[in-house]
Amino acid sequence: MNNFIYNIPVKVYFGENQLEHLGPEVKNYGSKVLLTYGGGSIKKIGLYDNVMHELKQMGVEVFEFGGIEPNPRIESVNAAIALCKEKGIEVILAVGGGSTIDASKVIGAGVYYDGDAWDLVTRKAPIKNALPLLTILTLSATGSEMDAGGVITKLSTNEKYGIGHESMLPKVSFLDPTVTYSVNAYQTACGSADIISHILELYFNTTEDLRMLDYMMEGLLRTVIDYAPVALKEPTNYEARANLMWASSWAINGFLNGGKRQAWSVHPMEHELSAFYDITHGLGLAQLTPRFLRYCLNDQTVARYVRFGVEVFGIDKTLEPMEIAERSIQSLETFFFETLGLQKTFTEIGIDRTHFKAMADKACRGKEIKGFITLKPEDVEKIFEMCL
Ligand code: NZQ
Ligand code: ZN
Repeated sequence: MNNFIYNIPVKVYFGENQLEHLGPEVKNYGSKVLLTYGGGSIKKIGLYDNVMHELKQMGVEVFEFGGIEPNPRIESVNAAIALCKEKGIEVILAVGGGSTIDASKVIGAGVYYDGDAWDLVTRKAPIKNALPLLTILTLSATGSEMDAGGVITKLSTNEKYGIGHESMLPKVSFLDPTVTYSVNAYQTACGSADIISHILELYFNTTEDLRMLDYMMEGLLRTVIDYAPVALKEPTNYEARANLMWASSWAINGFLNGGKRQAWSVHPMEHELSAFYDITHGLGLAQLTPRFLRYCLNDQTVARYVRFGVEVFGIDKTLEPMEIAERSIQSLETFFFETLGLQKTFTEIGIDRTHFKAMADKACRGKEIKGFITLKPEDVEKIFEMCL
C-alpha cells in the first residue's frame, strides 16, 4: 500500500437557499469580480439575477464574461484573461458546468502569465499562481467544483488537454441541487456517465490499496446507478439531483485516489474524440468504457471485474469468473445505452476511422498509456474499432 496525501481545502455550501453566503464569501477574496458563465442557461433559470442581486448587495464591482463553450476554447480563455488584466480583476466567480469552471481556472492562472495561455495548457510554461476562484455548479458531472484541474480545447489544431495546479482549486463552491433541475435528459445522462468513468478509472487499478476505498467507490457507483434514472424520469426530484451532485464531487476530488498512481486510460482516449469531433465528454466515455473493459479482460485482470459485477450490479457470485466479468460489462452497457439512452456507437455520432491513428498516437502521447493494462497506440486503435 502506497503512502498518500489527503488535502481538499474547498469550502462547500450544499443545498437550497445558500446564496445569502455568496456575497460575503466573494468579498473575502476581493472587490472586483469577474462573473463567468456559458451559453445562457443561468439566465433562463433565474440564477444570473439571483447572483447579481447578492453581489450588488455586497457592493462588489462585477464584470462579466459569458459565452464560454462546452469543451471550452483557448480563444475564450485568452479573451477573458485580457479583460481581467485590463480591469484589475481580483476574484473569479464561475457559474455553470465543468466547461465554465475549467475555463475560469485557466483564466485565473493566465492572469499571472505574460503570453498565450495555451502555453500553460500544453505545459510549455509552468502555472505559478491563479486568481481565487469561487464556483456555483449547475451540472453534476466533472467534479471541477472540487478539484484543481481544467481541460481546455484548441479546435483549430484538434487538441484538448487537461492541466492542474493547486492554485486553481476553488476556494468555495455552492452546490444547490435545485439549479440542476433544468439540465436536460441528454446532459444528465452524459454527466452521470462522466461520474461513473471517474470512479472506474480508479476502480480498475492494479495498486494494492485501502479496502475502504473499494467500498466507497462501489457505494458511489451504486448511487449514480440508482439515481440517474430517477433524475431522468423526474428532473425536479431533489433527492436524485442531490445524490448525483455530491457523487460528482467525490468521484474526482482526490479522496478516492488513495495511494493509486497509475494513469487514467479512458479519459485521454475520450479527449481525442472531443478534440477532433467536439462531442460531449460523457457520451465519449460511455461509448469507450465498456469496450476498454472488454479489451483489458484476461486471466490476470478478471478478479477486479468479478468484484465489480457482484458488488455493483449484484451478479450471482457462484458463476464462473469470466461469465461474471462478461455480465458486468453487459450490465454497464445496458445502463449507459438503455437506461440512460445514450448512443452506443461511433457510427451513430459521425465518427469513422479517418483519425483513429492520429487520435491513438495523441492519446498515448506518442508512447503508451500506463493504466490498468499498458496501452500502446495500436491497442487504442483497436478499442476505437470496437466502438464503431
Ligand atoms: O453553456 P450553458 O448555456 O450554461 O449550457 C450548458 C451546456 O450547453 C448546459 N447546462 C449546464 N448547466 C445547466 C445547463 N443547461 C440547463 N440547466 C443547467 N443548470 O449543459 C451543457 C454542457 O455544459 P458543460 O459545462 O460543457 O458540461 P460538463 O459539466 O459536462 O463539462 C464538460 C467539460 O469538462 C471537462 C470535459 O472534458 C469538458 O470539456 N472535464 C473536466 C474535468 C475536471 N475539471 O476535472 C474532468 C472531466 O473528466 C472532464 O474532462
Ligand atoms: Zn470526465
